[in-house]
Amino acid sequence: MRFPRYRPRRMRRTEGLRRMIRETILSLDDLIMPLFVRPGKRIKKEIASMPGNYQMSVDALVEEVKEIEALGIPAIILFGIPETKDSLAKSGYSDQGIVQQAIRAIRKAKANIVVITDVCLCEYTDHGHCGVLKKHRLSGIRDVDNDATLKLLAKMAVSHCRAGADMVAPSDMMDGRVEAIRDALDKAGFEDVPIMSYAAKYASAFYGPFRDAAESPPQFGDRRSYQMDPANAEEALREVEMDIDEGADIVMVKPAVPYLDVIRRVKDEFGYPVAAYNVSGEFAMVKAAAEKGWLDEQRIAMEMLTSIKRAGADMILTYWSKDVARWLG
Ligand code: PBG
Repeated sequence: MRFPRYRPRRMRRTEGLRRMIRETILSLDDLIMPLFVRPGKRIKKEIASMPGNYQMSVDALVEEVKEIEALGIPAIILFGIPETKDSLAKSGYSDQGIVQQAIRAIRKAKANIVVITDVCLCEYTDHGHCGVLKKHRLSGIRDVDNDATLKLLAKMAVSHCRAGADMVAPSDMMDGRVEAIRDALDKAGFEDVPIMSYAAKYASAFYGPFRDAAESPPQFGDRRSYQMDPANAEEALREVEMDIDEGADIVMVKPAVPYLDVIRRVKDEFGYPVAAYNVSGEFAMVKAAAEKGWLDEQRIAMEMLTSIKRAGADMILTYWSKDVARWLG
């Protein structure tokens, strides 16, 4: 027996000692801030279920991006709330689309920040699904048409790059979309633009507040025919392997905290850069409990984010990015 010769508590006695053996350090470099852009002028509308987060018009967004840059946060990811939606998500891959306008404005303002774009049809389709629909030939059930969707996702990614995006992040969960996007980007001369793939994205109830924020809930059914079953981890490894084979530069696990085991396995198995999305529901439930005085928001957020990093994430998409920058001071 090693006790009492080894006493773990010795190194916990003061903050100085604790600092010396701290294994995981959350830093500014780890953060990616999600932002929502909508048409209009001077609009900054708070999202009810995500306090401190806003739907912003392009002008307000540029101000926000400058603030985020000044805080030292390296990257943002943009989501669009378009003027019009239709069954083919046309406003998503139009060069005049809201995200495209936003990227150009950020570029014009010379913000020194990595601009990532979410590539998915759900924000732009009137039915709210992440791809175009077809009726199954035998059952008559409406479902997302995988291969028809690939072409539109590729068009959207190319259009984002033409506007000046630094990185594209497909979140639709269609099979084969990383390859389709990689091919299209290469053909259009954007072989230098990396793909951050939402590789293991689960059909999660934790996206609830986001769907209000992006005004993108499915109008019928749910996303279980394309997003993953929360019960599966082996399958997540297959998804990640596919995306890496197809050319993904960064692979994402989403949500984060309920899936720390998946983050760890992906990191150990592939050694690729891993992103984790600390999603809207993870954020909102802490905010709500903190408002009631039941939890300490800062301590909970830092504990959650540190745990995500400890599990193996190299970067975290989080609505707390600005707060973390301030807390780290
Ligand atoms: C779009 C997309 C979603 C999120 C990111 N991209 C919603 C969804 O798939 O329903 C969720 C982000 C969050 O909850 O914070 N497909």
